[in-house]
Amino acid sequence: MFGDPKLEAYINEHSTQEDELLQELNRQTHLKMLNPRMISGHLQGRFLEMLSRMIKPARILEIGTYTGYSAICLGRGLVPGGVLHTIEINDEIKDFARDFFRRAGLGKSIIQHTGNAIDIIGRLNDSFDLVFIDGDKAEYPDYLTMVRPKLNAGGFLIADNVLWNNKVVNKANLSDPSTAGIDSFNKKISTDRAMETVILPVRDGLLMARKL
Ligand SMILES: C[S@@+](CC[C@H](N)C(=O)[O-])C[C@H]1O[C@@H](n2cnc3c(N)ncnc32)[C@H](O)[C@@H]1O
Repeated sequence: MFGDPKLEAYINEHSTQEDELLQELNRQTHLKMLNPRMISGHLQGRFLEMLSRMIKPARILEIGTYTGYSAICLGRGLVPGGVLHTIEINDEIKDFARDFFRRAGLGKSIIQHTGNAIDIIGRLNDSFDLVFIDGDKAEYPDYLTMVRPKLNAGGFLIADNVLWNNKVVNKANLSDPSTAGIDSFNKKISTDRAMETVILPVRDGLLMARKL
């Protein structure tokens, strides 16, 4: 993550350890799933949990469930009775994630939607205190268009992979749809006068925005 294994080990040692359930989710994802590198993992998950506990959201929207790691971390910050909607296009991982949501005590507060995020967001009749974007990188600008009106004033939006392995800084990479999507999303949100935005170089880049 930081290019220096000693530094990474030090950071891990001095951050609260991953609990048994998340450790198992991480392990099972690596054993059974394709592209296990997509999982948020320990440090980013801990950071998302910390943010969610600070925000204390009643309604969360997540785009890109995968095996459920980030949903569990974010869901831990929900106020009692709060709900997290999470969208995943791949229906083969739905039951895998559901089992971990139940074991995390979040079975009733996490609602899974299967299908294309663009279609599903349009059908969600709700507004959100916290949105986490982690789906198809080429579609980030469209996700922003769809979720912006559904984000409450004072609400927060977090987007993962906004540096895309540092490809965003090189114009030659813009022919790649994922890099172009992320770059366009970063430009769109950082010039939006109704949004206050900061990019943190955590892992592959985490963007945080607050709707004014
Ligand atoms: C990086 S992974 C999500 C990781 C997860 N948030 C975590 O932190 O563990 C991205 C997920 O988005 C899903 N995805 C891709 N395109 C999508 C779309 N158009 N609609 C919904 N989900 C999509 C992929 O199938 C994949 O599981």
